[in-house]
Amino acid sequence: AGPAGRPAALLAWYDRHRRTLPWRPPAGTPADPYAVWLSEIMLQQTTVRAVGPYFAKFLARWPSVADLGAASLDDVLRMWAGLGYYSRARNLHACAVAVATQHGGRFPDTEEGLRALPGVGPYTAAAIAAIAFGRRTMPVDGNIERVVSRLYAVEEELPKAKPRIKALAETLLADSRAGDSAQALMDLGATICTPKKPACALCPFMEGCTARLRGDAESFPRKAPK
Ligand code: ADE
Repeated sequence: AGPAGRPAALLAWYDRHRRTLPWRPPAGTPADPYAVWLSEIMLQQTTVRAVGPYFAKFLARWPSVADLGAASLDDVLRMWAGLGYYSRARNLHACAVAVATQHGGRFPDTEEGLRALPGVGPYTAAAIAAIAFGRRTMPVDGNIERVVSRLYAVEEELPKAKPRIKALAETLLADSRAGDSAQALMDLGATICTPKKPACALCPFMEGCTARLRGDAESFPRKAPK
């Protein structure tokens, strides 16, 4: 696919290889903003594998954001035990209280509105906006930075390159299904476009990937020396 066909090529790949993860409803089913938010907070500093059981436990005990907001902070911290970075659990509780009491139990549906919530930074706001509300924005994490910097052979170094990478990443969003576009790039970075020995032969962008064409995928993203 040429550049114009990339969003469709990415979704076609996702439809065939989409990982089944606890927070992903069956294909084509709308996502619950509460479940998306909960999973994205848990995934901030924790692996997909470790988050699974915690995500299930939280949803079983507190099925809605209002239920979580009505819980005591101590109960939330006890349930969080083992996940680490406990400021996340405090913010999680504060955010649930805010959504329940200030927003009538419904998450704001814009990136800007989401950003105003406790514990929700630019990445998480974009992830929820795209996945839960279909907003055309790309949450750019380390995986997505790697995919995009290779595809376009971005020579500028991280962290300076972040705005450029975000703009390039957003060219990969489909007009509809923004959340699937984002999760497709996450999966591509996690399973194919890995830091070492990427499986380029399996990548939907193989033919147009500038770094691969140079035989040099592993050298991206460029990073400023520490
Ligand atoms: N990492 C952060 N958010 C994710 C998601 N929605 N799916 C897979 N990996 C993720």
